[in-house]
Amino acid sequence: MHFYVGSDHGAIEMREQLSALLLSWGHEIVETFGPTDSAEAADYPDVAADLSHALLKSEEAHVPALGLLLCGTGQGMAISANKIPGIRAGAVADAFSAKMIREHNNANVICLGQRVLGSELAGLILRCFIDSEFGGGRHAKRVAKINQLDH
Ligand code: RB5
Repeated sequence: MHFYVGSDHGAIEMREQLSALLLSWGHEIVETFGPTDSAEAADYPDVAADLSHALLKSEEAHVPALGLLLCGTGQGMAISANKIPGIRAGAVADAFSAKMIREHNNANVICLGQRVLGSELAGLILRCFIDSEFGGGRHAKRVAKINQLDH
């Protein structure tokens, strides 16, 4: 799977850890967004918007991709990314929700918080997200209604 990965200054360490995991699982990181130095403050809405636009371009080109956005809590990234039409981002802190946002909500972005999660749990959560697929069926109608809210 192609991945777009981004963080603000509050989650650079987790971004590096999870990027290494993604690569070790055989995924491709197409682009990384956000600062490389935690002394360099970055506003999470900017990172979320840049990643979201890149991800949507990939989807438009029919190259399936997912986004991973990290900040202190994951919440600021999710709130921001969900403002971009076409993005369905979920901020989660447990494996079950990570699975469900793929299966039921067809999330294309997962948001995690470095100040919330230990690195092992974050890796497990990310794995559950990746290993799950949109269920379609009755969920498709609801996701279509989510997408309608973009207009
Ligand atoms: C940055 O200090 C912090 O506010 C940010 O990383 C994030 O937690 C916001 O949602």
